[in-house]
Amino acid sequence: MIDIVALYSELASLSKTEQQQRLLPLRQVYREQVLALEKMLSVDDTPLSSSQLLSQQYANHSPFSQDELIGQQVMGFTITQLISNAGGMGLVFLGEQRLENHDTGYIKIHKAAIKILRTNRLNTQQQKAVFYNEASILMTLDHPNVCSIYGVSEVLGHACIVMDYIDGHGLDVWLDNNKFNQIQRFNLFEQLLRAVSYLHGEDLFHGDLKPQNIIINDQGHLVLIDLGLASKYKQKISEDDNHTQDVIQAFTRHWSAPEQVAGHACTAQSDVFSLGMMLHFLLTGSVVANGKVSMLKSTELNAIINKAILNQPDRRYTNAESFRQSINIYQQGMPVAEYSQSGSYQLHKLLKRKPFTSLACVLFVYSVATSLWIVFH
Ligand SMILES: Nc1ncnc2c1ncn2[C@@H]1O[C@H](COP(=O)(O)OP(=O)(O)O)[C@@H](O)[C@H]1O
Ligand SMILES: [Mg+2]
Repeated sequence: MIDIVALYSELASLSKTEQQQRLLPLRQVYREQVLALEKMLSVDDTPLSSSQLLSQQYANHSPFSQDELIGQQVMGFTITQLISNAGGMGLVFLGEQRLENHDTGYIKIHKAAIKILRTNRLNTQQQKAVFYNEASILMTLDHPNVCSIYGVSEVLGHACIVMDYIDGHGLDVWLDNNKFNQIQRFNLFEQLLRAVSYLHGEDLFHGDLKPQNIIINDQGHLVLIDLGLASKYKQKISEDDNHTQDVIQAFTRHWSAPEQVAGHACTAQSDVFSLGMMLHFLLTGSVVANGKVSMLKSTELNAIINKAILNQPDRRYTNAESFRQSINIYQQGMPVAEYSQSGSYQLHKLLKRKPFTSLACVLFVYSVATSLWIVFH
């Protein structure tokens, strides 16, 4: 298998001729991936500052009419309706493919989400680069909690990503509409941690974790979407990455880590910050106000979230997996080191967790001590 994300970054810095030379030996074996890469590379990633991007984003000029797209065909799917025009990068449409069983006459409808880049060819090339970054990253991933992609294509001259349609609602809408107990909320967070752990295991960070980029279906299954700002975090920070930082700065101010807002290098620990904010949001329905959490009933949970949202990235959990382990420790009733490391707290946790065993131990120690006292006196 070729690593499309690494290859895309490598090729992006080469000239057209060098790109062709590099792709030539791969063309035979990885035909489809090479074709997709060529499509992605055909963009001119002229740098654009965050302020320019922001003004492009909110100018809200749609170069195409949405009606024009209804009925169009993409990768065997017919575009049937607009799902969302809320995102900065693209309009998302529903695509349907009707599969008829000739024996039974039964028609099965297969759905896809089709994200179409807002801009036309004359508009920002940098947005295109971010858009194709999403496609190239999604192509390499395979996890039940991360949206999978069918391919990249074009419709009426506009670039589009065709992906799995997740029939559900954004986390924010979901929390508004439903009443959940703590266990269900932790279950959702566990799924989110699994998705982000998977990305971190691939040396990727998501870069835009927020409730709108998380969809939950009616069965409570969570799927992470919108990987346009995701990047390989172990790469050397090059000048090109600075442009990506610009983009991140422009799009995620509310949920993102301080280093991200400041436009500095991001790592898995930048996602950990957003995850901490998200856990607070999941448990309380509100965002963290003054950079510190103290309102939750559980003081241990306060300590866990506070560690995740520390200002210095290297003092947070290393990645989503270590955050997950800490949550698991809390759920199992084990002592949470972030909260306290004192002996009395450890004993208190032990007594709560295993009252009978602890009582037996205390009685045993007591009887040994009493016997010794009798023997020596
Ligand atoms: N695969 C999908 N299935 C269902 N809805 C989706 C899917 N992808 C995106 N959406 C909807 O479209 C919105 C915008 O998509 P997103 O990928 O976040 O775009 P942007 O990069 O513009 O923020 C999402 O918040 C969600 O409501
Ligand atoms: Mg989004």
